[in-house]
Amino acid sequence: MYTLCHINDIPEGGSKGFQAGELNLFGIKKDASVVLYINSCPHLGVPLEWMPDKFLDDEGCYIQCSTHGALFSIENGQCVSGPCMHEFLEKMPFRIENGSIIIDL
Ligand code: FES
Repeated sequence: MYTLCHINDIPEGGSKGFQAGELNLFGIKKDASVVLYINSCPHLGVPLEWMPDKFLDDEGCYIQCSTHGALFSIENGQCVSGPCMHEFLEKMPFRIENGSIIIDL
């Protein structure tokens, strides 16, 4: 079990990266709800962020891979533009307890 952070540590409309053991993860908060993904682009299996904790495009509408610019839906992780069109980022299940984001490994 890993506690990643408090839910308030992810800014509204923003993103945050996490290392949990071997797992490289990132979370997005949008409209007060959080989604968590494995930080691996389905195109080449590389991490997505262009700077620490920066996983979104300029408008904050999509997750963006910094390597070739693929765009992914924040809600379901599906690629909507780029070389891995229609493929998905892998979601990571989590729970929230007393405001903390917790994953079970
Ligand atoms: S590695 Fe992500 S789009 Fe190519």
